[in-house]
Amino acid sequence: MVSSLPLCLSQPTPTPTLLFSSFGCTVPPLTRAPDLVGLFLPAQWTTISDPQRSEYDPSILSTARIDTAKSVDVTASSDASHHSALAWSCTSQIEFSYKVVECPDILDPANDALLFGHLSSADRAMAKKTTQRRLVVIDEHVDDLYGERLRNYFEQRGMKQGTDVEILRLPMVEEEKSIELVLQVCEAMKKFNIPRRASPVIAVGGGVCLDVVGLAATLFRRKTPYVRVPTTTLSYVDASVGAKSGVNFMGSKNRLGAYVPPVAALLDSQFLRTEERRAVASGVAEMSKMAIMKSPELFELLESHAPRLVSGRFQRMPSSAEQEQQEDVVPGRVLQLSIETMLEELAPNLWEASLDRLVDFGHAIGQELEMHALGTEHELTHGESVNVDMAFMTVLAKSKGLISSAEQARILKMLSSYGCPIWSPLMTKEFLEHALDERRKLSMGLRLPLPVGVGKAAIFHDVEYEECFAALDTFHVLCGPADDLHLKSSAKLSSSVVEE
Ligand SMILES: NC(=O)c1ccc[n+]([C@@H]2O[C@H](COP(=O)([O-])OP(=O)(O)OC[C@H]3O[C@@H](n4cnc5c(N)ncnc54)[C@H](O)[C@@H]3O)[C@@H](O)[C@H]2O)c1
Ligand SMILES: [Zn+2]
Repeated sequence: MVSSLPLCLSQPTPTPTLLFSSFGCTVPPLTRAPDLVGLFLPAQWTTISDPQRSEYDPSILSTARIDTAKSVDVTASSDASHHSALAWSCTSQIEFSYKVVECPDILDPANDALLFGHLSSADRAMAKKTTQRRLVVIDEHVDDLYGERLRNYFEQRGMKQGTDVEILRLPMVEEEKSIELVLQVCEAMKKFNIPRRASPVIAVGGGVCLDVVGLAATLFRRKTPYVRVPTTTLSYVDASVGAKSGVNFMGSKNRLGAYVPPVAALLDSQFLRTEERRAVASGVAEMSKMAIMKSPELFELLESHAPRLVSGRFQRMPSSAEQEQQEDVVPGRVLQLSIETMLEELAPNLWEASLDRLVDFGHAIGQELEMHALGTEHELTHGESVNVDMAFMTVLAKSKGLISSAEQARILKMLSSYGCPIWSPLMTKEFLEHALDERRKLSMGLRLPLPVGVGKAAIFHDVEYEECFAALDTFHVLCGPADDLHLKSSAKLSSSVVEE
């Protein structure tokens, strides 16, 4: 009973071909220059082996290429008897394969997805014949809400707590997102004596929990399979679909981390029912990012339904009495499009080899704004700061002539419709200059993703600071508080349509 949306990803590195099985879309291979690995870095190389890719035993799921080179003399000796040194350059393909699967009612004991959702049907049949053991790591707040059902799930499936299943409850909050928390998970993995190949560790929680468990599994015995079960809107559409894990270190966000994907992300939107409204709205901001950048369909759906999706926590509901008999397909479609568009962007670039990323929309200055606002009376969630960044970049795109006034108004209106601010008093010229400097340093250039229409975008390398400062003035006029609230009144936005 698993899956209405199985997405299987397979990424051999460095030349991946990615398969989105249910959408029939193939992403072109990524190419990368081979790295040199060896003791010496001679000034000149002579290749003496056959440079053709060797045919390797496919059972090891990898192909590798080893080129041997004769280096120039590394010791300046006149002794004719000394040997010239050799160097070996290795290029190895590592294949990552993972599934992103919709699993409604994942805690229903009749649903075997939590145990076997990461397996192919053949492997699942085999696995069902053997005793299963699982370590589940759960955010303590999520445990308070869903722990009873989780324990009942395993009990009903005949798995005894303590022997077959261990449930580790931890405070998975941003303030605790550290290597110490990762080590606690590793300790539990050691004590549980986890059978590495057959028993993936299961993470149940928001982005913090998924990141902590992902890093612990990556470190434990160098790579232990793990499964992600996201329980927040943001982690459902963002943290669950990529390869990254990470924890904060020495005051820097996600400074320790890895790029090892889970074996599966199992998605059940019913968890979102209990989420705070503000958190759901912040998750929608990440969806808007993809909508504005690359999906007119997602944009239109959010434009028409975002407020009720937030208040309804993405659960199906009839929007009127007449529609009571009809199925409400909007929440599911919005979640699917958000995941699909994220995957299209993330999967070919799992290791972020390219810094030109449309998923950076909302994040060019947004993350700096989030940090800047922390602890002040203007504190913003991650999604809220992304929302403010997107509003500013939309105004910048209009001032560069990339979008029309009508498109600008449409985007700003959508961004202001679901309860996230589109303006912050912290967006001063000094802050903007600092945030752009940081962006330039981290991304080796500004590389600004900007809309060039609704659901269309491009990356711009040539934006001048002066253009940004000029756009900032317009941003304050258009998006600044119409009243005491930071939210933009729709009257002001409509007037920018009339101006055109
Ligand atoms: N690895 C990635 O690619 C990636 C992508 C985006 C974000 N992240 C990380 O994700 C984190 C943010 O994730 P988040 O927004 O999910 O926050 P979170 O994990 O901190 O969870 C936020 C709060 O929601 C609570 N919660 C979780 N599920 C709930 C539910 N179903 N009902 C009620 N409350 C619930 C949690 O207990 C917590 O208090 C950040 O640390 C960020 O760095 C990682
Ligand atoms: Zn984000």
